[in-house]
Amino acid sequence: MNLVLFGPPGAGKGTQAKRLEEAYGIKQLSTGDMLRAEAAEGTAVGQRADALMKEGKLVPDDLIVEIVGDRLIREAKRKGFILDGFPRTVPQAEALDGLLARKGLALDHVVSIEVDDEAMVERITGRFTCARCGAGYHDTFQRPKVDGVCDVCGSTEFKRRSDDNEATVRQRLAAYHDETEPVLRHYEHQGLVRKVDGMAAIDDVTAQLEAVVG
Ligand code: AP5
Ligand code: MG
Repeated sequence: MNLVLFGPPGAGKGTQAKRLEEAYGIKQLSTGDMLRAEAAEGTAVGQRADALMKEGKLVPDDLIVEIVGDRLIREAKRKGFILDGFPRTVPQAEALDGLLARKGLALDHVVSIEVDDEAMVERITGRFTCARCGAGYHDTFQRPKVDGVCDVCGSTEFKRRSDDNEATVRQRLAAYHDETEPVLRHYEHQGLVRKVDGMAAIDDVTAQLEAVVG
């Protein structure tokens, strides 16, 4: 099964992708995570991306397609993939269509997680993750069961993203409306779009997603 999880910053793409990964054994491919890994390693690509990410701007299409292209074909030939944060522009969507078509592969669903912009600022500024295993949390909506201890691996170290401040979130939301929303129309024309209510509680959203993808 090949899925795209679509939605603005804070919609819950990463949270839900991890759950679907476990439920279906298909691989989450997050271009944001890939870029952050490149930045942490200090590669040339990572340095270029890091500056843009800190401003809440999109990274150039050619660079993104190069980073994710081979990996998504590899996963599609195994059990499938969940794309999280890609494609984010119409040229990226066209590049993805071409990559898949050349290998005789296709998308099964593009699931749009529908949310209100204003709520996304609170979601993002309250987000933190385990520094060891990457499990995701929120100051209000998803606290660890024991304060200060990761539910998954027991680590006591957590981190926050440098682009998770209010000013950058607003810039990311603007980039979403200008450059990313048209991607949904691209897939509507292909009859691939399914919608879920992303303002529901995290478990509810998972249930809706599982119902949609079957
Ligand atoms: P990326 O890492 O993709 O960030 P994003 O799209 O801004 O999305 P987020 O990761 O912020 O949100 P999410 O939807 O994953 O939400 P989450 O599940 O964490 O991209 C970062 C940057 O990289 C971009 O700005 C750009 O510069 C660059 N980039 C990446 N891909 C690119 C591409 N293809 N092209 C060009 N540039 C690219 O949830 C958020 C919080 O809310 C969490 O704390 C969670 O616990 C909580 N939460 C989740 N669901 C719910 C719920 N239902 N109710 C209450 N709380 C919830
Ligand atoms: Mg994410």
